[in-house]
Amino acid sequence: TPLHDFLKRLPKAEHHLHLEGALSPTLLFELAKRNNISLPTEDSAFNSPDSLQSRYGRFTSLDDFLHYYYFGMSVLIHAHDFEALAWDYFQHASADGVHHAEVFFDPQAHTTRGVSYNTVLSGFESACRRAERELGITTELITCFLRHLPVEDCLATFENEHVQQSYRSGAVKGIGLDSSEVGFPPHLFSEIYEKARKQGLRRTAHAGGEGPVDFIASALDTLGIERIDHGIRLADDADLMAKVAAQGTLLTTCPISNVVLGSVPSIQDLPIRKFLDAGVRFSINSDDPAYFGRYILDNYCSVQESFDLDVQEWGSISRAGIEGSWCGDGRKREIL
Ligand code: HPA
Ligand code: ZN
Repeated sequence: TPLHDFLKRLPKAEHHLHLEGALSPTLLFELAKRNNISLPTEDSAFNSPDSLQSRYGRFTSLDDFLHYYYFGMSVLIHAHDFEALAWDYFQHASADGVHHAEVFFDPQAHTTRGVSYNTVLSGFESACRRAERELGITTELITCFLRHLPVEDCLATFENEHVQQSYRSGAVKGIGLDSSEVGFPPHLFSEIYEKARKQGLRRTAHAGGEGPVDFIASALDTLGIERIDHGIRLADDADLMAKVAAQGTLLTTCPISNVVLGSVPSIQDLPIRKFLDAGVRFSINSDDPAYFGRYILDNYCSVQESFDLDVQEWGSISRAGIEGSWCGDGRKREIL
């Protein structure tokens, strides 16, 4: 890619990364063996790490991906498994020029399997501390709620004493909303977001990736979100796009994910040029890099290959991402 070295050096913040989506087939097989987890022999994709990786290359939809994503997690049992997973991601991120990472995890996907919240959290926290120490990356953790589960389950997770403790201590900085979007509109979760706002938590939600542009409007109105995860459908509504641009709300786009999961036919079909012209702020992210086989720099390069942006445009994308981060102003100035 032209500008490849420039893009690699460009200071990056990543805001849309599911830690469970950083589980490589190699680590999955290793942990399955160590933890005595049997892989589904009826699915030939699980014959070897290579065959699993090639199956990952043929996702047909978000739900097809989520099937493998939720199965993959079943190998994560102990705190050091979660640490190994997150450490794997931070090393890739650092190599790609990430200075600050705000990463999601899905508490319910683990607690429903009998793995305690504090086990998950302590593993991830160890990896975050190591990333800060050894790689100079600053990090924030964000708990996501699984929107395909009953709202009461999500609320009970939010109110769980260990989860609340992690918010109070600052170990977890904010909340998000993920999993299947269609059929699970944002307003269902308004009580959680209202409580989170009162507690001073940062708030984001997946909206307008798979679902329609109305989900973006209602996530802004009924959830009071401060960022929009994916948000590519925003370009379908010029008025809302102008409003989002004027407010300066950051979209956390994931170009390769959108193509792999079938939200758009190709990168060229993404509204990158429209967002730039309308002054919509966005960052570029990897979503579930191990499943899509590509990390954040690949996403930057794929945008460059399709849109041929200039150095100034890249500078403003980089700045928007750093300014839209949830770290302190001092840290933002350091990175810029
Ligand atoms: N979309 C929705 N939910 C998710 C994703 C995604 O790409 N990855 C993990 N949970
Ligand atoms: Zn996502």
